[in-house]
Amino acid sequence: MIPRLPIAPNGPTFSRLIYGTWRFLDDAATSHSADLLKRLHACLELGITTLDTAEIYGLYRVEEFIGQTLKLEPGLREKFEIVTKCGIYVPCDFHPDRKVAFYNAETARLVKSAEKSLRLLGTDYIDLFLVHRPDWLTSADETAAGLNKLIKDGKIRSAGVSNYNVHQFDLLNSRMDQPLVTNQIEFSLLHMDPIFDGTADQCQKLGIKPMAWSPLAQGRLMDETNPAGARLQAKAAELSAKYGDATLDQLAYAWIMAHPSQPLPIIGTNKLERLIATAKSADIKLEREDWYGLWTAAKGQGIP
Ligand SMILES: NC(=O)c1ccc[n+]([C@@H]2O[C@H](COP(=O)([O-])OP(=O)(O)OC[C@H]3O[C@@H](n4cnc5c(N)ncnc54)[C@H](OP(=O)(O)O)[C@@H]3O)[C@@H](O)[C@H]2O)c1
Repeated sequence: MIPRLPIAPNGPTFSRLIYGTWRFLDDAATSHSADLLKRLHACLELGITTLDTAEIYGLYRVEEFIGQTLKLEPGLREKFEIVTKCGIYVPCDFHPDRKVAFYNAETARLVKSAEKSLRLLGTDYIDLFLVHRPDWLTSADETAAGLNKLIKDGKIRSAGVSNYNVHQFDLLNSRMDQPLVTNQIEFSLLHMDPIFDGTADQCQKLGIKPMAWSPLAQGRLMDETNPAGARLQAKAAELSAKYGDATLDQLAYAWIMAHPSQPLPIIGTNKLERLIATAKSADIKLEREDWYGLWTAAKGQGIP
């Protein structure tokens, strides 16, 4: 069973691996409730109880798809922790008048978006609500006022951010009544910025766990036509037997989880068999030399 852990001193308890919903409507073969229900039940059997979604996913249609699917089985929603995000607005069918994409993290927008997410997801609470991207035009006081209000009104149980740098996180956190519980950041063997730019260190300092998006670099990590992918495949082949016939994707999730900030990888596959295979990664404890060996294969050079 995949372990669970509190993501912050005042935060919710999540499963060590999280199921991401960004691509839920990308593939006609899997974008219907019968297929999703199979994957949701597989998640529960494995111990993956946390779902990550966002207002914008599927051009504003994924939340509704999740809500319609959860509604098919009474009690199913309560078996999951739901994370959703708001703040990205792009031209789309619902807003043909919109000409450019923009961010908005004003109080009124956050409240309106959270209420829409509640309605579409068919729930009366959101476990964790994130500001999807920093909005350069809104003050920290204004954004915090929206998040504080949503917590106070019981619409969201905790608040966090995504893609914030260390300074943006500090600033917003300083205005929160209840501290932010996570920063959801891009982190993988092919995107190591968080361990160099201070965001993972900031999480350690505050005792909060980052959520790691695109843990397989959107599939590029598995692509042997890309030189880093080819080096990583070769390294995985070398390590596989030592870690119970582990595959590259399993080693890649384990590599992320081994970092002391304890990131929670968000899995992006729509394929049931791949989803089931991820579970093994929670049992893999990489030895130091192997962690640095994967680092070296990804970078194509040794440590500085
Ligand atoms: N906060 C943010 O700004 C942000 C941004 C992006 C994503 N996210 C979150 O992070 C989640 C994961 O992101 P992601 O979808 O980019 O994750 P990912 O795991 O890096 O990439 C998933 C993609 O890789 C493919 N893939 C190829 N080989 C695979 C294998 N062996 N196992 C698993 N997948 C394989 C998948 O295809 P198949 O479906 O065919 O397996 C899928 O297209 C999203 O669902 C979303 O919840 C957040």
